[in-house]
Amino acid sequence: MMPPLKFPLTGSSARMIVLGIETSCDETGIALYSSESGLLAEVLYSQIDLHQKYGGVVPELASRDHIRKTLPLIREVMAKAHLKGADINGIAYTAGPGLSGALLVGAAIARSLGMTWNIPTIGVHHMEGHLLAPQLEKNAPQFPFVALLVSGGHTQLVAVEGIGRYKVIGESLDDAAGEAFDKVAKMLGLPYPGGPHVAKLAQKGTPGRFVFPRPMTNRPGLDFSFSGLKTFTLNTVQEHTKDIVIDEQTKADIAHAFQEAVVATMVIKCRRAFKATGMKTLVIAGGVSANTRLREELSIMAASEKGELYYPQLKYCTDNGAMIAYAGCQRLMAGQSDDLGFYALPRWNLESLPAL
Ligand code: KG4
Ligand code: ZN
Repeated sequence: MMPPLKFPLTGSSARMIVLGIETSCDETGIALYSSESGLLAEVLYSQIDLHQKYGGVVPELASRDHIRKTLPLIREVMAKAHLKGADINGIAYTAGPGLSGALLVGAAIARSLGMTWNIPTIGVHHMEGHLLAPQLEKNAPQFPFVALLVSGGHTQLVAVEGIGRYKVIGESLDDAAGEAFDKVAKMLGLPYPGGPHVAKLAQKGTPGRFVFPRPMTNRPGLDFSFSGLKTFTLNTVQEHTKDIVIDEQTKADIAHAFQEAVVATMVIKCRRAFKATGMKTLVIAGGVSANTRLREELSIMAASEKGELYYPQLKYCTDNGAMIAYAGCQRLMAGQSDDLGFYALPRWNLESLPAL
């Protein structure tokens, strides 16, 4: 177990340019964020092609590819912004949660550059990055708000009072929503990562042909569970598979029923989260927040509760360096930074982060 992050006060800064490095999974995301001018430049390299033939992320391949890509991409982003090392005031990297080898690559590079350039470095919580991604938009949400974080590794409802003031009020007891999308994609013979493929196929589905269960909605509480829905989906696929094939319309109908069940479940839980917290602003972030049906239905729900829904633009829903640069910049500006160690925390509790 790695030691918890320390954030010794280094004195707050009036303005900063921060290099953000995201290497927690299968995307190398690099960005430069200025506290004065916003995003200066960003690059993203996706490893999807590398992992697709294995049907999911192969951790060792992910780490090796981050090693190959991170430094060249940092050079590229600096060239795009016409900046040199001396222009950069701080470095933010994803310290967790994520794949340990992949995290270590970003941590080692961030820490080494921080020492070389003699500037502070900070390990950012990946889910805080997602949670704050909507702040990159012109129309950014104001605190406090309820955040629905829905990614490949996490499904959490968080009451957010401010940066670092997080209370997890609900979470998945088993699979994350994105993981469920990815597994259902596999059942339907769709490529990795499955979420966007299931969503696309679902558009051709016949509404009402199948109705799948809405897990954990008929008892109180804000937790989620997707493993039963996943099994229900698998059983439906198997029932309709004749001579090893399943017809295309049935596949689309199953994708549709699955997506509707996930979306309806989230609508019910988010409405409950409004009631439980008294908050009226909902933020959705993480890869699954790219889902159009989820956005549509949650915005209807928010409006019906006289509230508002916020989400990042599509490229900031999935993993990226901009959200890490932004989150790190807020903490560095407040005088927080790491000691000289570097940290990779595959598991890391969002609630343990220090408040600003
Ligand atoms: O946030 P993210 O890029 O990585 C993690 O932190 O895990 O989320 C990736 C997840 C994958 O499971 C992917 O299938 C899902 O987000 N995803 C979607 C959509 N786009 C990405 N799920 C449903 N609908 C989408 N349009
Ligand atoms: Zn993510």
